[in-house]
Amino acid sequence: MTARLIDGKALAARIRAEMKAKASELLARTGRAPGLAVILVGENPASQVYVRNKIRACHEVGIRSIEKYLPATTSEAELLDLIKSLNENPGVDGILVQLPLPGHISNIKVIDAISPEKDVDGFHVESAGRLLVGREGFRPCTPFGICAMLDSIGFDCTGKRAVVIGRSNIVGKPMSIMLLERNATVTIAHSRTKDLPALCREADLLVAAVGRAKMVDASYVKPGAVVIDVGMDRDENGKLCGDVDTASVMEKASWVTPVPGGVGPMTIAMLIQNTVGAALRREGKPLN
Ligand code: GUN
Repeated sequence: MTARLIDGKALAARIRAEMKAKASELLARTGRAPGLAVILVGENPASQVYVRNKIRACHEVGIRSIEKYLPATTSEAELLDLIKSLNENPGVDGILVQLPLPGHISNIKVIDAISPEKDVDGFHVESAGRLLVGREGFRPCTPFGICAMLDSIGFDCTGKRAVVIGRSNIVGKPMSIMLLERNATVTIAHSRTKDLPALCREADLLVAAVGRAKMVDASYVKPGAVVIDVGMDRDENGKLCGDVDTASVMEKASWVTPVPGGVGPMTIAMLIQNTVGAALRREGKPLN
């Protein structure tokens, strides 16, 4: 079998186009465009690229960006003060603090400080709790985007075996809950899991979010499985690649997401959707 590629770039462009229409309706109705505050502390090169791409997507869609570039020496108290002022700013619908933060700043204190109504990354404990108990709220953008990709190929999770490799708060844990909500039988695998390839070979849906270049090869894949690659890694030649050895896995899987052009653009599209959703909710007209 030769797998088909799920075109995240094209799907993300469609979602941005839908959100552009919603943002312009909001502007016409209220005189106000949705606003996203983006905070970057320090000069991590990967974070600089992610932030640039997020801001470019905002502008394409008609979201106003409020950009705060802070030096790596910024104190935790200064960052918390900035978040407080953005929480109180009525022109700001969403607040994104790019992670990772410098070591002297507590991720937990920073995420806790963001108003849950503006938590477009879906990282606040209130958003996490809402996801866990199946209530509406902001969903973390990467797993939310993966769900949209599964919908785009008509993949019904009901009764399927799903294995998620990785247990981060940003991807692995929320992904697992979202797949459970869609009636999959979910296993979360991680660095201490025994015989990972054998476990993964039971999966109809395999989500790789480990951060190790091309770790998942055909020996991890059940024939006909759908394989989602969340990795943003570098191969031995310094070239961008994912956690999945795509060429090898395509021999066995039915669908695979490419890197680049798969999950990455979808993460940004869902950030845009969450931000437009936040603005509409604040105007009393939620997205769905
Ligand atoms: N760092 C890596 N992924 C993300 C993300 O989705 N949001 C933020 N804020 N930081 C990140």
